[in-house]
Amino acid sequence: MKKYSLSEVKQHNQAHDCWLVIDGKVYDVTEMIETHSGGKDKIVPVCGTDATIYFQTQGGNGSHSLGAQQKLNDFLIGELS
Ligand code: HEM
Repeated sequence: MKKYSLSEVKQHNQAHDCWLVIDGKVYDVTEMIETHSGGKDKIVPVCGTDATIYFQTQGGNGSHSLGAQQKLNDFLIGELS
């Protein structure tokens, strides 16, 4: 798998270019931000960061379904170096 440093991930910190680290893996979620059922505003503030806890807790609302966790695979681009 391609490896990315956290500083590289940090460059992708906007709604139109949004990468997230979740559990040591790097995801480019740009394409799903607009259609996120939890709202675009939940994801945009954490673009370019390690959002593991935030994803796991839905930002304090509970936890994502298994389906949501599996859907992450569609956006996988690599892992943290
Ligand atoms: C990283 C920050 C994220 C936060 C804080 C967040 C938060 C939330 C919240 C609050 C909901 C609940 C909506 C409701 O109550 O109806 C939700 C739903 C959902 N989110 Fe996220 N989300 C994040 C990222 C993602 C990502 C990257 C995906 C891509 C797989 C995703 C997929 C989903 C799906 C499929 C749902 C529908 C409910 C479910 O299946 O759990 N979310 N999200």
